[in-house]
Amino acid sequence: MQVVQSINEVRQARWESPVLQWGLVPTMGYLHEGHLSLVRLARRDNDRVGVSIFVNPTQFNDPGDLSAYPRNLEHDLALLEEEGVDLVWTPAPEAVYPAGYQTYVTVEEVTRRLEGSSRPGHFRGVATVVSKLFNVFQPQRAYFGQKDAQQTVTIKRLVADLNFNLEIVVAETVRETDGLAMSSRNANLSPEARPRAVCLYQALCAAREAVAQGRRDADHLRLIMRNIIAADPAVTEDYISIADPETLEELSQIKTRALFSLAVYLDGVRLIDNMVI
Ligand code: PAJ
Repeated sequence: MQVVQSINEVRQARWESPVLQWGLVPTMGYLHEGHLSLVRLARRDNDRVGVSIFVNPTQFNDPGDLSAYPRNLEHDLALLEEEGVDLVWTPAPEAVYPAGYQTYVTVEEVTRRLEGSSRPGHFRGVATVVSKLFNVFQPQRAYFGQKDAQQTVTIKRLVADLNFNLEIVVAETVRETDGLAMSSRNANLSPEARPRAVCLYQALCAAREAVAQGRRDADHLRLIMRNIIAADPAVTEDYISIADPETLEELSQIKTRALFSLAVYLDGVRLIDNMVI
């Protein structure tokens, strides 16, 4: 496994064997089974697998959140080595955003709601860094998790709109045994808060159950989720949404597929989860 810092080194490794198919897994590190599931999909579909580990400052609207983001490069590299990854890029922030940097990518409508309205500028940072990763690696395929549903919608839009020549593969959300979606941020939960974090998954399961029983009124389904979140005073709701999975516009009735998603604060940690029902 080759671990490189500079853009030139990535390009060199990438073009040593130009006929080989590359899969790219962009990450911010502190890797868990969710990330590794993407790596395994990439391993299955491609000749070579590249992973980027970069805590991207432009997608953090809160400087406290950026400095609190967990990091453990040594452990990440050991995990990736075990998975048979070929190339890991761990750039310094100055390599990605050198002095004088002033170019940003904005995906418009699908970034306005949900995460986009709670975290202004977040998707501008994501779209910018992902565009740069695609340009540097030039992969045939790139892998993203359904855990960040709006991110996958945004990146698919970006790829279509800017004619990036690659396929976006979206992988299922990997969960802990109690149902909590795996996330690097879970490491910031205190031992007291950790068991309470399962309420996001419980809210989604309750909504799914109500849909299975024939409920179609989105306000009623939102209320089912809201009541579960409100039952724990330590948990604060950011948003609870039932939206069209492609446009992300809020629905009043469930007709076909709908994206059920929510964001909460627990113990000062922001947690998100979703299900397509
Ligand atoms: P990060 O949060 O490190 O996540 C990297 C990738 O892993 C994302 O595509 C994310 O959706 C996926 N992922 C995270 N938790 C998962 C889980 N429990 N199951 C399945 N996949 C999961 O998302 C980012 O980094 C950044 O925004 C990035 C795309 C790297 C741009 O900076």
